[in-house]
Amino acid sequence: MSAVKIIYLLSGALLLSGCYGGSQTTVNDTAATATEFNWNLPPQMALPVEPLNNPVTEAKFQLGRHLFYDKRLSGGGAISCASCHEQNKAFTDGKVRPRGGAGDLHPRNSQGLANAAWFATVTWGNPSLTTLEQQIMLPLFGVDPIEHGINETNHPSILQSIVMDDLYQQLFAAAYPNSAPMEWSHIVESLATFVRGITSFRSAYDRYVAGDQSALSDSAKRGLQLFNNERLECFHCHDGHLFTDSVRDRSMRVVETPFHNTGLYNIDGLGAYPEPNTGAHEVTGRAAEMGAFRAPSLRNVAVTAPYMHDGSIATLEEVIRTYAAGGRNITEGELSGDGRRNPYKDSFIVGFSISEEEIADVIAFLNSLTDEQLLIDSRYGNPFE
Ligand code: HEC
Ligand code: HEC
Repeated sequence: MSAVKIIYLLSGALLLSGCYGGSQTTVNDTAATATEFNWNLPPQMALPVEPLNNPVTEAKFQLGRHLFYDKRLSGGGAISCASCHEQNKAFTDGKVRPRGGAGDLHPRNSQGLANAAWFATVTWGNPSLTTLEQQIMLPLFGVDPIEHGINETNHPSILQSIVMDDLYQQLFAAAYPNSAPMEWSHIVESLATFVRGITSFRSAYDRYVAGDQSALSDSAKRGLQLFNNERLECFHCHDGHLFTDSVRDRSMRVVETPFHNTGLYNIDGLGAYPEPNTGAHEVTGRAAEMGAFRAPSLRNVAVTAPYMHDGSIATLEEVIRTYAAGGRNITEGELSGDGRRNPYKDSFIVGFSISEEEIADVIAFLNSLTDEQLLIDSRYGNPFE
């Protein structure tokens, strides 16, 4: 489902505000904004980009946090953002693929939301989604699949139930002192602000980077070295402080939005991935982008199983064995095909030999990327509990 279709669907409500077209999004890449927002960052992290028309404020963050956990913000009253993005799983849901409010199976695996403020593109493989504001329209108003199920018929009454609520009136007045009444655009902006404000840099690995040598076990230290060496090649795509090469921050003049085919499928022997999950190709139609997905950040990856865009790998051990094999050879069923021979496979996915002890070391390193505080921090928790 393209963002264009969504905007069409919502023409009654959102087109009026007219600020969600991808090309119109302006970013603040100059000085830091005047907002006093606590990003809770280590010194090496540059501030993330904020859209000029939606600067981050604490009051919007708090409004967004309530909306994120509120099931009233859905067609059937049974689903909230938190249904698929659970804090104790680093804002994933533990499912292979989630179901939306109308029972539709989403084609892709739920993603973690921590540090999403820095991702150069959002979602698994969509080059056209570059802001959280654009992305959040999809779960709210999308029909393929239906997630929150807000549509042309029910959106006025859903908005009304929020607008009439005393608590939301207070939160809204604090977030938008000069504009009333509350509209869908405010809801989208506040949700984006909450997500943008979820930062996660309190793992054992972060303590190690900050100078505490004892924060990592010897096994995790060996794993870190393996991760960063030319035999395993992991760091080429999972690089930097976020362990992804798809990053944008305020200090950058040039932003890259890379996508990679890691050789998971090859259903026709010519490189095809199963529909609709053909990666960036699904959006651009370019053959060379078949099966190309954004390298996910590996922070908190130990608590976000199952893995990959379709949740098709259950454990980190299996992920590492798949890379060691240079891709995945599926020998039975309708998805059969030798992903190792996918012609669109990235040149860094070539396979390598690795001992059992080394696999355990890489897993120990990946485990050290979990920010335990993120999982329980009341700042990001359900305000209604
Ligand atoms: C039915 C389950 C479901 C619901 C409800 C849901 N999401 Fe998601 N979310 C997903 C899935 C699945 C993806 C991956 C989407 C894709 O690749 O197309 C995702 C991706 C995202 C991303 C992109 C993260 C990244 O790493 O790029 C953000 C941000 C996000 N969701 C925020 C939200 C917000 C905010 C809400 C509430 C308005 C919400 N989601 C509701 C399942 C859900
Ligand atoms: C060529 C770029 C590239 C290289 C090299 C690479 N990865 Fe990945 N990684 C990706 C992409 C892209 C995905 C998502 C693929 C998909 O879903 O189809 C991914 C997914 C993952 C996941 C699953 C994350 C999640 O949230 O589902 C893990 C774990 C992972 N990689 C670890 C590693 C390790 C360990 C190595 C080194 C052995 C490595 N990667 C090498 C690009 C790369």
